[in-house]
Amino acid sequence: MKILYYGDNLEILRNKIPDNSVDLCYIDPPFNSKRSYFQIYNNIGVSEDKAQAQAFVDTWKWDDAAVSGFVEITTNAGARYTRQTIELIKGLELILGKHDLLAYLVHITLRVTEIFRVLKPTGSFYLHCDPTASHYLKLVLDAVFVSQGGEFRNEVVWSYKRYTAFSNRFQRLHDVILFFTKSDQYTFNDLREDYGEKSGKADGHYKQDEEGRWFRWQKRVGREPYKIYLSEGRRMGDVWEIPIINASAKERMGYQTQKPEALLERIIKASTNEGDVVLDAYCGCGTTVAVADRLNRQWIGIDITYHSIGLILKRLLTARQVEKLTDVLVDGIPQDVEAARALANREDDKLRKEFEKWAILTYTNNRGVINEKKGADKGIDGVVYFATGPGKTERMIIQVKSGGANRQTVGTLNNDRQREKAELATLITMDEPTRGMVEEAKEKGVYEHPLMGRNYDRIRIVTVREMIEEDARMDLPLTFDAVKPGKKSGSGEQLKLLGK
Ligand SMILES: C[S@@+](CC[C@H](N)C(=O)[O-])C[C@H]1O[C@@H](n2cnc3c(N)ncnc32)[C@H](O)[C@@H]1O
Repeated sequence: MKILYYGDNLEILRNKIPDNSVDLCYIDPPFNSKRSYFQIYNNIGVSEDKAQAQAFVDTWKWDDAAVSGFVEITTNAGARYTRQTIELIKGLELILGKHDLLAYLVHITLRVTEIFRVLKPTGSFYLHCDPTASHYLKLVLDAVFVSQGGEFRNEVVWSYKRYTAFSNRFQRLHDVILFFTKSDQYTFNDLREDYGEKSGKADGHYKQDEEGRWFRWQKRVGREPYKIYLSEGRRMGDVWEIPIINASAKERMGYQTQKPEALLERIIKASTNEGDVVLDAYCGCGTTVAVADRLNRQWIGIDITYHSIGLILKRLLTARQVEKLTDVLVDGIPQDVEAARALANREDDKLRKEFEKWAILTYTNNRGVINEKKGADKGIDGVVYFATGPGKTERMIIQVKSGGANRQTVGTLNNDRQREKAELATLITMDEPTRGMVEEAKEKGVYEHPLMGRNYDRIRIVTVREMIEEDARMDLPLTFDAVKPGKKSGSGEQLKLLGK
């Protein structure tokens, strides 16, 4: 089982993931903790205006979702919640008020309740957070896990170094990972770390045996001493020194909150064996998924943005060095035009950003760059670079229209293309293009690709139906290597490399 779910993890956990089916769940929910602790507490009892001004995080708001989550927990809807969980959330409301921190804790409580349900009795759970709210989160996990026979195992401190600036407090250089299990019978592999060069040999405790291996005698009361070999390593502690991903790291995906693979490797190796099921319900750019895949675990990833799903697919393709993922199921992405229309009309995405991202990344096989800016170039939703020679690229701009496209749209797109000095432009439309649009696009002429030896329409119109039903995709070479000069255009080898 290797599944990526695109959507809200609460719905997916509830509707798609059966009870007692997961060996390990790791989550790293978004958390903007730049605000100070003092500001959190200041939210209590202050006026609405002041509380808003000091909003705890940008992501978490006391909004309709928070209200309905709060009511759901405190009225025990669906008999999902333990008495301790209900009382905790009621108590936190008294202390924190109906503000952003409580919204965050309600969001997590709803999801952790489902995570507990989907874990196997031998399963483990790791929650990655930072010290700003780790103490509140520990209360939530105690209420959900310990009240149902689970147990707190560790507070792992992930310690790292990074550039620091002057501050009138100590530098914050660690994250917190709370480790819980569903029961007392759980998978735990005894991980070891190197003693390092200096220890052991140098301090004279260790001797060499006849084969040259370093060991020391361990005494035991009333029993024979036994040998401990230096090569066995030290039992892993709960403070982990692991570097953050640096600017030139190979694993870097350019995703702001990406966690290092070394961190996930420890968690996955400690709490699972080959073939076990690993779940990440906030999978971001897919660090957990990539490591689980490499370590031959089964995995389930969930993320609410198509950008993440696109990045993960790309990451897996690169890691496995293949062109197609034949064993990975992607659930939740539109499989027919109606589903694409529903995505474009999502209530919680009035700007249709998710639809745009899905359309651009699907059409470009996840190679397009999304235009997050709005402004002078607002007619351009994405851009993709294609190879035209050794070390040379040109650009194609992309616009996505979920409705209302007409002849003028095509004309304006061509003006944008010329202004941006892009050789090509693609218009992705929800509706079939009118005859006027097709004529206007044809009038803009063709571009002769220097490597491919063929012409491309300067403006291409692609419909969502063609993308879904006919697999219409961008057919331009992304890298010079892929073109393999010397081969005739249109050869099978080339087509395969064009991302189809
Ligand atoms: C901090 S990032 C995770 C980073 C990840 N650990 C990595 O190494 O790439 C949090 C992710 O949670 C996702 N997310 C936020 N709310 C979600 C929800 N309700 N359901 C699913 N995913 C969600 C965000 O889109 C974001 O990608």
